[in-house]
Order: sequence, then structure tokens, then C-alpha cells
Amino acid sequence: MHDLSRFTHADIRWAAQNMPLLLNTDLTPLKGLRVAICLHIEPKTAVLCALLIEAGAEVWLTGSPGTTRQDVADWLTGLGVQVHAAADDEAPRVDDVLAGNPHVVLDNGADLIRKLLDHGVPPNFLGGTEETTTGARLLRQREDQPPFPVIVINDSYLKLLVENRWGVGQSVVQGFMNATNRMVPGSRATVAGYGPCGRGVAQTLRQLGARVRVADLDPYRRLEAALDGHQIGQLDDLLADTDLLFLATGHPDVVSDEGIAALPDNAVISGVGHYPWELDLQRLGAPARQVDVPGSARQTAHHDTYVQPDGRRLIVLAKTRMINLVSAGGNPIEAMDLGLTLQARSLALVAAGRATAGVQAVPEVLDREIAATFAATLELS
Ligand SMILES: NC(=O)c1ccc[n+]([C@@H]2O[C@H](COP(=O)([O-])OP(=O)(O)OC[C@H]3O[C@@H](n4cnc5c(N)ncnc54)[C@H](O)[C@@H]3O)[C@@H](O)[C@H]2O)c1
Repeated sequence: MHDLSRFTHADIRWAAQNMPLLLNTDLTPLKGLRVAICLHIEPKTAVLCALLIEAGAEVWLTGSPGTTRQDVADWLTGLGVQVHAAADDEAPRVDDVLAGNPHVVLDNGADLIRKLLDHGVPPNFLGGTEETTTGARLLRQREDQPPFPVIVINDSYLKLLVENRWGVGQSVVQGFMNATNRMVPGSRATVAGYGPCGRGVAQTLRQLGARVRVADLDPYRRLEAALDGHQIGQLDDLLADTDLLFLATGHPDVVSDEGIAALPDNAVISGVGHYPWELDLQRLGAPARQVDVPGSARQTAHHDTYVQPDGRRLIVLAKTRMINLVSAGGNPIEAMDLGLTLQARSLALVAAGRATAGVQAVPEVLDREIAATFAATLELS
């Protein structure tokens, strides 16, 4: 049993209490190294940062737009973490954390790694990890591939299964409900994108009684959605019967003018993907009302109502930022225990010089080992 009293912030201590995988991870390969991190600044991230500090690493941290919790940032500053973030930041403060000349980076969206590739790598730089589907794609698209190891956490089968599918599914729907206080059973919900995230969102919505439709450009994914029992179709065709739209493609500008014209009055649009770019908000015109709506006692989300020329009102939550992070506590703690353990173990491999140059998946042997440990925590006794 770990002594958790050193986590003096109640939410962070609660997260730590439910993060046995990370608490049992050996971080000594990172001792004495400068670690630049871009992650959502919330309690689970704080547990990782605190453990890195305890292991003797120097931590430079920035956050993703719209998801920084100031109380968590302040607690980490008190521990000695160099925090460069504020709740209303429009972008991660990439330059500020790279100014620390990191030995390794832990990235989320590839903002840090792309900056290093564009502007030069510090001396003694060893490599890093990238968390997301979207960030990994941005790196793999480049002509100049990284001359250092980048382990893509999202290429872990385990991460896709536990976090993207089951964790995102639960927390996105939770975020939507917190932000709106709307009823899910009976609603007509459309999920754009049926990767692990979209699949989890669709499954959670259906378990709550929504009538779920799915659009995906990939025929295998469309087929999978149909075989899972969802109605499928082209996105533009589905939108006319959509009360709730969830954007889970990870790609820019997926909703067309025709799709916007088809959406019914009072449709609510929520973001799931890493960047808030799946719906080009310019296409909706200027928002008529901007209000912070109290969805539940504790959680609010910024609602923008866009009145269309024909009078229909389209409601966009939090400018399509990830609704599970904006209006709920982010992914469930156990899912992030797993994800951050994959991050920490992969970063330790990079720090120990045990990864080759290039963008690569989490080694399968490591993935399976962590899967076995995680499964053991769920076994019936
Ligand atoms: N909110 C969170 O907590 C969270 C957690 C993990 C990942 N993510 C993000 O969620 C997004 C989805 O992740 P994933 O792992 O499911 O990705 P994925 O790439 O496996 O799946 C995306 C799917 O969208 C489809 N798609 C692409 N363009 C489309 C279009 N124009 N119309 C319809 N379908 C289209 C693709 O064919 C693919 O099947 C990514 O941006 C990822 O970074 C968010």
C-alpha cells in the first residue's frame, strides 16, 4: 500500500489512489533528466509529474487549450514543476517548455516534437513519446522523419482498447450530459468517425438508449458500425435527423455546408477529436449568444448558439474542444493510469537508449506486460 499523504491536493490524491500501475512504475531511468511535457493539466497528469519529480527528473509542463485546471497547475508549481499554462490559453506554450532544453519530451498532439524538428534539437536530446492519433499522423506525414526515437502511445493496442474506446466513450457522454443536462435516452445521435473513440461514444450512447447513427469514410469502419447494430450512412444524409452530433474523426473540416443546412433546430454539436477543427465554425456565421450554461451543479461549458438565416439554432459546446475534458474530469482515472503508465515506461526506454530512431509503436512485449498487470487488477478473487 502506497502512502498517498504526500498528494496534499484532494483531487490529485483521489486520482493517485486509483492509479496503481503508475505508482508501481520504475522511473529511475529519468533521474537527472529534463522532461518537457504537453498534457492536459488535470489531476491524473499531476500524479505523473509528481512521481517524475520524486524520481529526480526536472519537469517543464505546458497544457492543451481550454483544459488547464489552475488549482492543479498551482499545486504542481509548489512541487517545483515549471508550469507554463493558464486556463484560457489558446495554444500550448511550446517555446516556454522547450526553452528548458529537454533531454526527453512527452507530447500530446506533436506540438513539441514538430517544433523541435522545425527549429532544431537541443544538445543531448534523446527522443520522446507522442500520445495521440492525430499527433502521430502529423509526424508520419512529414518528409523529414525524426532522427530520434518517438514512441507513439496511440499505436498501443492496449491504449486503443482501454482509453480510446472504453474511457473516451464513458467520459465524452458524461461531459455532454454535464454540459447540457439534456436527456440521452431516445435522442437521435450521430457519431462522425468510428475509430476506437467514435466506437466507444456510439456504444455508450446506445447503452443509454439513444438512437445512434454513424458515418465513416472507411468502408471497414462503416461495416463494423453496422455489424455493431448502428444505422450507417453518409454524414450529410444523417444530419437531418440529428439532435446530438459528436465529432470523432480527428480530421479537419468534416462537416460540409450541406450538412450544416440539414441539421435541425436546436441540434447540439460536441467535439471528441484532439483538435477543435472538425467543424469549421466560420461556416456557421457569428454566434448570436455566448453563455456559460450551468449543465450540472459543478460543471459548465461554453455554449455558442449560431442562428442560421432560416432561423434554426445550432448549439456548439466549448467551440468543439474535447467535451470530456471541458465538462467532465477527462478520461476515467483507470484509463489514464494505463495511458500514463505506457507513457512513463516508453519514456524510460527512450531515456535508457533502448529505442531506435524514428516514429514507432510501443513495443508489443511491453504492451502485453502492462495488459497482463492491468487485467490482474480486474480479476475476480
Ligand atoms: N477526447 C479524448 O479524450 C481523446 C482520447 C483519445 C483520442 N482522442 C482523439 O480522438 C480522435 C479520434 O481518435 P481514434 O483513435 O478513434 O482515431 P482513428 O483515426 O482510428 O478514427 C477516426 C475515424 O474517422 C474516420 N474519418 C476521417 N475523416 C472522416 C470524415 N470526413 N467523415 C467521416 N469519418 C471520417 C476515419 O476513417 C477513421 O475511421 C483523434 O483526434 C484522437 O487524437 C481524443
